[in-house]
Amino acid sequence: MADQPTNESKPGMKLWGGRFKSGPSPVFERFSGSLHFDRRLIDADILGSKAYARALAGAGILAPAEADQICAALDSIDREAAAAASDEDVHTYVIRCLKDKAGALADKIHTGRSRNEQVSLDTRLWLRSEIDETLALLRGVLAALLGLAARYPDAIIPGYTHVRRAQAVLWPHYLLAYFEMFMRDHERLTQTRARVNVMPLGSGALAGSGFPVDRDALAAELGFESITRNSMDVSADRDFVLDFLSAASIAMIHLSRLAEDWILYSSEEYDWLELGDGVTSGSSLMPQKKNPDSMELVRGKSGRVVGALTSLLVLMKGLPMTYNRDMQEDKEPLFDAASTLAQSLEMVREVLETTSLKPDRPRRAAAESWVVATDLAEALARSGVPFHQAHQLAGKLVLESVQNEIPPSGWTPEALVAFDPRFNPEMAALMDPAEGMKTRRAPGGTAPDTVAAALTEARTRLEKLS
Ligand code: ARG
Repeated sequence: MADQPTNESKPGMKLWGGRFKSGPSPVFERFSGSLHFDRRLIDADILGSKAYARALAGAGILAPAEADQICAALDSIDREAAAAASDEDVHTYVIRCLKDKAGALADKIHTGRSRNEQVSLDTRLWLRSEIDETLALLRGVLAALLGLAARYPDAIIPGYTHVRRAQAVLWPHYLLAYFEMFMRDHERLTQTRARVNVMPLGSGALAGSGFPVDRDALAAELGFESITRNSMDVSADRDFVLDFLSAASIAMIHLSRLAEDWILYSSEEYDWLELGDGVTSGSSLMPQKKNPDSMELVRGKSGRVVGALTSLLVLMKGLPMTYNRDMQEDKEPLFDAASTLAQSLEMVREVLETTSLKPDRPRRAAAESWVVATDLAEALARSGVPFHQAHQLAGKLVLESVQNEIPPSGWTPEALVAFDPRFNPEMAALMDPAEGMKTRRAPGGTAPDTVAAALTEARTRLEKLS
């Protein structure tokens, strides 16, 4: 009897134990304990437990005064002390503390309830507010992109494919591409929130509750949109975590690609961007260095979030129905991914707000290259030359120019017509990258009017989100 597991309210108390002759070994206890990380869920666990106490009162299991007493005791639990406690998990910690405060009455709180549904509830409550904060941070990045576009509305840069200068675009047009990516992230996270915001309590361990708890009232009290429809699904499901990690991974990939651009464009080789002193670091040896560490870390941290998604995908694959303890391993990747995404969004916003563009540099890069070749081919096509022939002709002009080191601006109207009579003198104006751009007026293109309209629309779309 001496080493029989105890159910008294003292550290080491288990929410199970009657069936065991002896308690867990110290090695297993250390190996399986999750309080050191799942204590992040303590507010959610207390909130959910209070709602459940009221649901038990509604079901006649607790007298209303008893439910009040339990709620008051739950409110007075020392949340910080969980950091030093040695309970199995956050749910056990909360119930042990409740027993300390409410005595035998606390033994009724778990009536019909399982930690399998509780962990789903707590994770959903925690993730819901985490998503709300992340959405606000995303809107900060979106606003910063529009701010940076507005600072240089007419700047021209070469757009790239294969890291080769391709066609000239407006600087705001380039930034609006990222705006679209982050808008989709906002949409994906909003959709994720809707799938997170479903109330699982009242499902029991897997088979449903044997007590008449009002699940709709629980959902209303906890601010959930609806209730889950199948008790086995509740115990088995981590789709809502996968949804979040997948949305978070895509957002991190967008941040990482922006970071990569910023690292390149601020290098001496490009020299377009000047990053703020506050978001760059020096070298301990080379006095001249101003390194883009903030963006390198964003790029690096994206790997952690993708890793978290991969972890959970592999974790869930092949788990038999329904709950398996493996699923406790969802939390560390989830917590890490959520805070990494939030920190990266905060960082990128600051980088965007403190970046300045040196418009002459990308302007010159566009003018010195043959980004106007497509404009010439299209002008020829507009004048009646079949496009394939126009493409060949513009290509020959480029070949002639690079062999003789003639920049686009080196072609006079006369020289152009002399090169081939299918060119007409007006086409020489297209040697300025700003000219051909004006033809790209189809919605989504880089013509200045089109971009101005897109910027106005983007501002309205962003306002509607907040
Ligand atoms: N700490 C556990 C988790 O996070 C709670 C569920 C425990 N349930 C069980 N049947 N052992 O998954």
